[in-house]
Amino acid sequence: SPAAYGISPDQGFLPPEPPLETLPDLFYAKWEEIAANLQPLLLSRRIRAVVDRMPLLSTVHLHTDAEWRRAYVVLVFILHGYVWGGDRPAERIPPQLTVPLFEVCERLEVPPVATYAGVCLWNYKPIFPDEPADDLNNLACLQTFTGSLDEQWFYLVSVAIEARGGPSIPLMLEAIAAARVGKTRVVTECLQQLAEILDEITALLQRMYDNCDPYVFYNRIRPYLAGSKNMADAGLPMGLLYDDGRNPPEYRQYGGGSNAQSSLIQFFDIVLGVEHRPTGVTRKDQKTAAASREDGPKSRHGFIHEMRGYMPGPHRRFLEDVDSIANIRPFVDAHRTDPALKLAYDACLSMLRTMRDKHIQIVSRYIIVQSRVARRASQSAGSDQQPPTVNLATAVPADSKKLRGTGGTALIPFLKQARDETGEPAIDAW
Ligand code: HEM
Ligand code: ALA
Repeated sequence: SPAAYGISPDQGFLPPEPPLETLPDLFYAKWEEIAANLQPLLLSRRIRAVVDRMPLLSTVHLHTDAEWRRAYVVLVFILHGYVWGGDRPAERIPPQLTVPLFEVCERLEVPPVATYAGVCLWNYKPIFPDEPADDLNNLACLQTFTGSLDEQWFYLVSVAIEARGGPSIPLMLEAIAAARVGKTRVVTECLQQLAEILDEITALLQRMYDNCDPYVFYNRIRPYLAGSKNMADAGLPMGLLYDDGRNPPEYRQYGGGSNAQSSLIQFFDIVLGVEHRPTGVTRKDQKTAAASREDGPKSRHGFIHEMRGYMPGPHRRFLEDVDSIANIRPFVDAHRTDPALKLAYDACLSMLRTMRDKHIQIVSRYIIVQSRVARRASQSAGSDQQPPTVNLATAVPADSKKLRGTGGTALIPFLKQARDETGEPAIDAW
């Protein structure tokens, strides 16, 4: 049952009840106070001093799932504020942050870094609880780094997409069950409805432009979402030193927050039978490797699969289990003489592909173009130019080829391949 995976039939991967706005137990008042004052603490550059003096609080007063999730949201926003809220990133994370964060992460089965779950799934509230929450008109954001409308909108567009996509989960589980017993008409109807949902999600994605300004996103918001993996250029050559005050502190590296960690979009790929390879690996390469038995699990799975490790444990397990029962693509393949079925399936692939196309346009405007603007500005200002509030090392590498997504990919080659792979099953089958 979906509930066992922390999924609700109408809200999908969003929590069944809206997230908690604050931890109810005053024991955690100090955490909430820092989170509530994150913007002034970043502006005044006091965040590190304040966190260094923060008490080390036990997690024994966290009870419900909603409380654990709220603790995660608070702690990862403080963590990323601490790391990126200075001229250079802070490398060592003090025990007051490390110890409770590790406990919270173990409980929720997420890594100790700001993930999509922390900044989107568990970080919203309906403006009015008695109105529907599946609409951008009724969504507010709980926690931000900058306090800007742009940052709120950046997260809320994803929340709206998750809410709109939620009903596709029971819908496609029904399609899988129908395919198993040969009910072609039911499968066709489910696919038709999925195509509609995918179309609406693309429309929601396009609304990013309404209220999230590319300059603000690139220069003010994005640097805080950076991770600690492959971040040598940004000043974290070894990653972060998570000091838990007991064991000798260890360096760890994690990718930063990225929508590639959305379980919903991976769910679409899985039910439709879309397969992704590591960037640069063609389908032919993979067949050759399989034939010569060279390909271990590492070479078969790329970044998109790796991102499952950044999803909450139950969601990750849900995707694995759906993976093991997904049958729509072979079903459509076996019924290729049914024009309505083929049409509905192709419509889904085409919608998903269009979504990835629109997304590539967004990445081009919000990252590629902005990185050029920023580089030009820093060149013409000369080398004595002070970097803005957040260290620009994350935002502008000296060499544009080194430009990376917050998740760590080489952006366009990765995204274009993911888009192209979205068309492949149809090509193969017919
Ligand atoms: C991946 C940027 C909004 C869905 C990525 C990646 C980048 C990126 C750079 C590559 C992975 C990485 O290295 O992080 C952006 C920007 C956005 C934005 C700049 C808005 C300003 C969204 C939204 C969605 C989304 C709202 C929701 C549908 C995805 C998915 C991937 C991805 C599913 C994984 C690749 C794939 O499945 O095709 N994004 N993104 N992104 N993004 Fe976005
Ligand atoms: N993954 C998005 C980026 O790289 C947030 O900017």
